[in-house]
Amino acid sequence: MIQTQLFLGIDISTTSAKALLIDPQGVVAASASTPLSLSTPKPLWSEQDPHEWWQGAVSSIRQALAQAGASGAQVRVIGMTGQMHGLVMLDKQERVLRPAILWNDQRTGAECEEITQKVGAEKLLRITGNRALTGFTAPKILWVHNHEPQIYAQTAHVLLPKDYVRLRLTGGHAVDKADGAGMLLFDLQKRDWSDEVLNILDIPRAWMPETFEGPEITGVVTPSAAAETGLLAGTPVVGGGGDQAAQAVGVGAVTPGIVALTLGTSGVVFATTDGPFVEPHGRLHAFCHSVPGAWHFMGVMLSAAGSLQWYHDTLAANTSFDELLALAVDIPPGSEGLLFLPYLTGERTPHPDPLARAAFVGLTVRHSQAHMTRAVLEGVAFGLRDSMELIKQASGEMISTPGVTKSRIEQVRVSGGGSRSALWRQILADVMDTELVTVNTTEGAAFGAALLAGVGAGEWATVNESCLAVIRISQSTRPNQRVSEVYEQAYPLYRELYHALKPTFDAMGR
Ligand code: XUL
Repeated sequence: MIQTQLFLGIDISTTSAKALLIDPQGVVAASASTPLSLSTPKPLWSEQDPHEWWQGAVSSIRQALAQAGASGAQVRVIGMTGQMHGLVMLDKQERVLRPAILWNDQRTGAECEEITQKVGAEKLLRITGNRALTGFTAPKILWVHNHEPQIYAQTAHVLLPKDYVRLRLTGGHAVDKADGAGMLLFDLQKRDWSDEVLNILDIPRAWMPETFEGPEITGVVTPSAAAETGLLAGTPVVGGGGDQAAQAVGVGAVTPGIVALTLGTSGVVFATTDGPFVEPHGRLHAFCHSVPGAWHFMGVMLSAAGSLQWYHDTLAANTSFDELLALAVDIPPGSEGLLFLPYLTGERTPHPDPLARAAFVGLTVRHSQAHMTRAVLEGVAFGLRDSMELIKQASGEMISTPGVTKSRIEQVRVSGGGSRSALWRQILADVMDTELVTVNTTEGAAFGAALLAGVGAGEWATVNESCLAVIRISQSTRPNQRVSEVYEQAYPLYRELYHALKPTFDAMGR
C-alpha cells in the first residue's frame, strides 16, 4: 500500500480510455487502459459512443488505483486529455443526442467549403489560425445542421470527447484552451471563443463550454462520480489539454526551440511559439498550447507508423516487425531508387487532401521486400520533413509581434511507438539532418495531463518547471553527414511525386 500523494492523468484516445497515476517525482505508480470500439457506419464516417468513454474511464481509474494499491483520497488533482476535434452533442438534460463524430471522420467536405465561403478564407485564418479541414469540429456542427436538423434543434451543449468525461466526473461544461482552439471557433489571439465566427456560422455561444488554461481547476469530482470511480468527492480536475498539447508537455516540448515529433499511427511535428502566430497559407495548424501564454504550430501526417503497420499486416504478416526492420538496415539509403508516398488515408500536412493516395514509385526487379520496408520508413521521414520545413519557413515568414521571439528548432524530441526503432530514428535524423533525442517518459499524453494536474496542485510553479523536474534525455541520434547528403538528393524527388500524381488521385477519387 503506497502512502504518497498522486496525480491522475486520464486520456480518452480513439483506441482506449487510459488512467495513469504518477507521484510527485514523476514516477509512474500505475497505468491501466480499457479498449474502446470504433464504428464506421458509412464510407468516410468515424464515430464512437460517448457512454463507452465514461465506462472505459471508470474501469481504468478503478484498475489504476488497485494496481498502485492507492485509495482515491491519495489522488490530489486530476488532469484530462484525449483525442481532439470530436463532436459530442447534448440536449438540455445533458443526454447524448447522437454518436460522437471523430477527428478522423471525413464526411464534412461540403461544410468546410461552406465555412470558408461564409467567413472568408482570409478572416478564418486570421481569427482562428487555421483553414477549414474536415477533421475539425465546426464543420461537424454544420453537418448536423444540414443533415440531421431534428438533432440540431434539440442541441443545448457541444463538447469535445474528453470533456464529456469531464462532465460526467465534475458535472461542469469546460474545455481547455488547447483543445478548444482545435474546434475552428476560437479566436487564437484571445484564447477564447470567437463571437464573430460563432455569429457568422449561427452557432449559439450558449452551447459552448467555459474555457480554461491547462493547469487551471475546472471543477471537482461529484459524489456520484466518486461512488462510480473510487475517487474522492471534491478532488479538483484541471483543464489538461488535447492529446497533442498534452503529449508535448509529456516530453517537455513546452518552450520555443524544442520540437516534439510523435511517431504514432499518425505523425505529428509540434513546435511551441510564444505568440499567436499563423502560417500565412494555413498549411500548419496553429492552436493554443496547454502552457499558459504559449501557442504552437503543428503539422499532422495521417499515416506515419500507420503506414508501417499497414505494410506489415498486408505484405509481411508472417514476419515480426523486428525481423522486417533488421533486413532493411543493410539496404542503402534511398532504397536504390525506390520511393514510398505515405498517403494511405489521405493527408493533412502539407497537402490537406482527403483524396491523396499512397504509392511505391520506382520499383524494378532488383527491389526486394527489404527495399520496400526501407522505402516505407524513408517515405514517412520525408513526409515529416515536409512539416519540419514548413515550421522552419513559418518562423521566417510569421508576422512579427514586437517583443516576441520566433520559433526556431534547437532540439527534436521523438516519441511514440515508431520511435522505438533505432533504424527509423537514424533515418529521421538523416532525412531532417537534425539531432533527435528520446526522453525517459514514455506514457505520452496521459503523463502530460498528470503533470498539468501537478501544476494545478501547486506541486510545481509552472508547466516548464514540472517538465524540468521530471523529464530527462535518455538517448540521442545524430545525423550521418554522408547519408544526409543522399537524402538531400532524394527529398526533391519525393516532393515532386504528390504534384505529379495528383491528377490521377483526383480522377480515381471521382
Ligand atoms: C490532432 C489530431 C489527432 C487527434 C487524435 O490534430 O487530429 O491527434 O487528436 O489523436
